[in-house]
Amino acid sequence: MTNLQDLLLSELRDLYHAESQLVKALPRMAKAASNPDLREAYKNHAETTKMQVERLRKVFDQMGQKAKGQPCEGMQGLIQEGEERMQEAEGALKDVGMLGASERIEQYEISGYESAIMIARMMGLNQVAELLQQTLREEEQTAKRLHSFAKPILKEATKGAAQPQVERVRVQARKRPSRAAGEQAMGRTQAGGPQAGRSNSSRKAGR
Ligand SMILES: [Fe+2]
Ligand SMILES: [Fe+2]
Repeated sequence: MTNLQDLLLSELRDLYHAESQLVKALPRMAKAASNPDLREAYKNHAETTKMQVERLRKVFDQMGQKAKGQPCEGMQGLIQEGEERMQEAEGALKDVGMLGASERIEQYEISGYESAIMIARMMGLNQVAELLQQTLREEEQTAKRLHSFAKPILKEATKGAAQPQVERVRVQARKRPSRAAGEQAMGRTQAGGPQAGRSNSSRKAGR
């Protein structure tokens, strides 16, 4: 690698490989998800990801290069972690694990596109930068959407199979006061703490 053009091409080949892997991985994640909103989000993003692969082809075209990937080990590792989360648990607990893995995936893509856009702008390749920017916006929206599922999915998980683990966390939290606040807040929603109490009383008031 001797110049910025080589560096940009290397970044783009990484992204091309990463997106191509995600075209295969996202439908598997959709199939494995229990939460209907999460399943829908994975399905939609699988479709968006196919368009992102097409967009990268356009980028290579604009640079007068053949579209090709080079193994993106970072994304391979993140997808592998997602697969492990799918095997390790069932139901809502599996959703929690997958959500964490997929949020990491989106953040990784965001960083990759930000780097490529920065280099393209530096080189004065404004059309290339604009195409990449479109994908960056999609990744950011997806990251935000996925993150919005965290609370409801975690609540679901504390109701079901995750209960013993949550109990254990609460015992540890009592031993470590500095961490207690956040973990207790999670536990209280299923143990009738202030949050659950508020929602109960507001339900009663509604009747
Ligand atoms: Fe993507
Ligand atoms: Fe993405």
